[in-house]
Amino acid sequence: MERKWWKEVVAYQIYPMSFKDTNNDGIGDLNGIIEKLPYLHELGVGLLWLTPIYCSPNADNGYDISDYRAIDPRYGDIKDLQKLIKEAHALGIRIILDMVINHTSDEHEWFIASKNGDDEKKDYYIWREGKNNREPNNWWSFFGGSTWEYSKKREQYYLHLFGKKQPDLNWQNKQLRREIYDMMLWWLKQGIDGFRMDVINRIVKPKGLPDSKKEPCAPGGYVFDQELTANQSGIHETLKELRKETVGESPAVLIGETNCVDATVGSDYVCASRKELDMVFHFQISHMDPFDLCKYKKVQKEWYKVLTNGGWNTQFFSNHDLPRQVSRLGNDEKYWKESAKMLAIILHTMPGTPFIYQGEEIGMTNVQWDTIENYNDVQTKGEYERLLTLGVSPADAIAKVRRVSRDHARTPMQWDDTANAGFTKGKPWLAVNENYRHINVKDQLKDKDSIWYTYKTLIAMRRQNPVMVYGNLEIYNEEIPDTLCYMRKYKDTIWLVQANFAEEKKPAMHAANKILLDNYVNIDKDWLQPYEARITEIKNGN
Ligand code: GLC
Ligand code: CA
Repeated sequence: MERKWWKEVVAYQIYPMSFKDTNNDGIGDLNGIIEKLPYLHELGVGLLWLTPIYCSPNADNGYDISDYRAIDPRYGDIKDLQKLIKEAHALGIRIILDMVINHTSDEHEWFIASKNGDDEKKDYYIWREGKNNREPNNWWSFFGGSTWEYSKKREQYYLHLFGKKQPDLNWQNKQLRREIYDMMLWWLKQGIDGFRMDVINRIVKPKGLPDSKKEPCAPGGYVFDQELTANQSGIHETLKELRKETVGESPAVLIGETNCVDATVGSDYVCASRKELDMVFHFQISHMDPFDLCKYKKVQKEWYKVLTNGGWNTQFFSNHDLPRQVSRLGNDEKYWKESAKMLAIILHTMPGTPFIYQGEEIGMTNVQWDTIENYNDVQTKGEYERLLTLGVSPADAIAKVRRVSRDHARTPMQWDDTANAGFTKGKPWLAVNENYRHINVKDQLKDKDSIWYTYKTLIAMRRQNPVMVYGNLEIYNEEIPDTLCYMRKYKDTIWLVQANFAEEKKPAMHAANKILLDNYVNIDKDWLQPYEARITEIKNGN
């Protein structure tokens, strides 16, 4: 496999709003990230992905950009970003920005001009006439309601796959594409190391914008059909052009966020020879509901083939759109520490670049909020409304949205046990998780047995052991539903990783080998305790 810096680093995702607030307005800021660079360096990560920090009315926390070339004043300004880049680079940490080009905010000047029928920009967005006195088609948006919003001004509907304040850009328009490429080049000139491309496999729409034939999800016959707007014909040509006109052959990385992509479809996005993306976030694991370890093994196996084919993969269990991993996949009470460490061990030993989401390194958990007023997330609120229109009771609707709410990941980072978890001295924009008194960075830095130290250890191991990066993968016992066992092999080095997802002990394999890492202190080589994970080295000839 070809060596690349972005294959060798461990990445860390920052949700700036919730990371660290330095001016006590309750919102995290760029200075907060600068302040915590030594912390991130100590952890050992080599790449930071910042979710959007551009000017935005914040209808979707920054994923609704109103000015691509300006930093939202709540986070700071371009000088702060330059300082962050410089100080991060001095520590060997790279920085990528989140690039949202499927849509803008409805407050972006392009949209305002387009709505006004401006000659140059009228086709920058997707405008259609209504049909039979209603919307142009039956699509239901990601955040609830029709994907079409009527503009009285223009007397037409515009398309928005997400919220109505997020109109979709028209990628058929050449001049629009040129503006986007120039803007991305401008950011590369500021010294960033690449981009995470938001919902990138949806920028090209299905020809003719046809109705979906699937089951309706809401009164009025609306259909939520994620597949219909993903991976459409023309997407590969568009991504090839995008790459060529932006990062090109430079070392900068392009990482796509691609829901509705499996290894077969994904391979066309990430195989190096195709010159499209370098890797993607696929959701075959994080959207698997319920989680199924046998399916997990199958997904990893399929994606590993993509690597052997000249592509690459990401490894992640968490991000800002998902519940906390220890709550979803582990046990955030009785086996909190064990299961958080087990997931860390798997994250770093499966092939692909590991992405840690802020707070994961200390085992942050879901919140238990039980009224809709507690929530901030536009998606949570839209889904709650939809359930009510279907006649679901408020209590049941809350229970449903709480399982998946994006706010679990967005509560402020828990730095210490002082008020607001040390995130701010003001009033945090979103409440902190009350468990900050016993789950926080300060305590874990003092405790060598903490989840934090397991992350630090794994990151350091990955720097020193190419087997974790470039090793072959072989997965054993694919049909066993509660334990995981796989081998990584690179030159003469052979590692065996085992993990037990069950809450009772399970037999272990290859008991005689040298143990490199285990999340239990008292180890019984013949057994794996609940949520135990073990890395062993197999000596050649053994
Ligand atoms: C991506 C982002 C999510 C955002 C959506 C629309 O899925 O991760 O946070 O709401 O795109 O931009
Ligand atoms: Ca602030």
